[in-house]
Amino acid sequence: MPALFIAGAGTEIGKTYVTAALTRRLIAEGRRVRTLKPLASGVPPLDHPDFAASDTARLLDAQGLAPTPETVAACSPWRYVAPLAPDQAAALEGRALALPDLVGWCRAEMARAEDILIIEGVGGLMSPVTPDATGLDWLKALGIPALLVSGSYLGAISHALTACETLRLHAVPLRAVAVSESPGAPTPPETVAAAIRPRVAAPVLCLGRDAPCPDELADVARGPQVSYPSRRDGTGEPGRAL
Ligand SMILES: Nc1ncnc2c1ncn2[C@@H]1O[C@H](COP(=O)(O)OP(=O)(O)O)[C@@H](O)[C@H]1O
Ligand SMILES: [Mg+2]
Repeated sequence: MPALFIAGAGTEIGKTYVTAALTRRLIAEGRRVRTLKPLASGVPPLDHPDFAASDTARLLDAQGLAPTPETVAACSPWRYVAPLAPDQAAALEGRALALPDLVGWCRAEMARAEDILIIEGVGGLMSPVTPDATGLDWLKALGIPALLVSGSYLGAISHALTACETLRLHAVPLRAVAVSESPGAPTPPETVAAAIRPRVAAPVLCLGRDAPCPDELADVARGPQVSYPSRRDGTGEPGRAL
């Protein structure tokens, strides 16, 4: 089953936007998509007016699911109210999450996925997710490929490339980089994508403000039979299968 981890070059840059757009697109194509945000901070109770703006609510909406106690818990079993790094938000509630519990829950979801499984991470790639683990540890333990979401703000190129290089050094397969247009960005997202593209061995695509999921993003999420250009690093290798 195709499974994809949505990692961020930072936080508040478009991971949930891209995840929701991708989910909607794949569902519209008739795919059975399960999209999860296992660990979420900044999630008020379901009956609070701000719940609708939470990642959990947005991802349930993208899946055409009404927010109920059951659907919320099934999408985001670990939810914290404070909009902080999840380990800090958990501590404020006198709670703590252990990486094996998070990984075990995700693995069980992977095992029972009928078709495509999409997991949105938290914050940036190396944001803490538990007192002693980062999002990178979580992703490596799952052993699934990543889609890296970048912004297009000034400085986004370095943030994206740093995250891509970290994934490469840790042998995490990178399916694609999605540049989501940041508000007030000084250049179009295509300019950011053009700077990232020759330095990364994966497709680099853009989502403008309020844009739907681009075809190339749906392509990479559907499965492994996709080719992408080689790194412009002198090897001269043609595009190869993911
Ligand atoms: N391409 C985009 N078009 C319109 N709004 C966007 C886009 N990318 C991000 N946003 C908005 O910016 C805010 C932060 O994005 P979000 O997806 O929640 O980031 P993250 O999940 O990385 O924290 C949200 O309000 C989101 O709807
Ligand atoms: Mg998010």
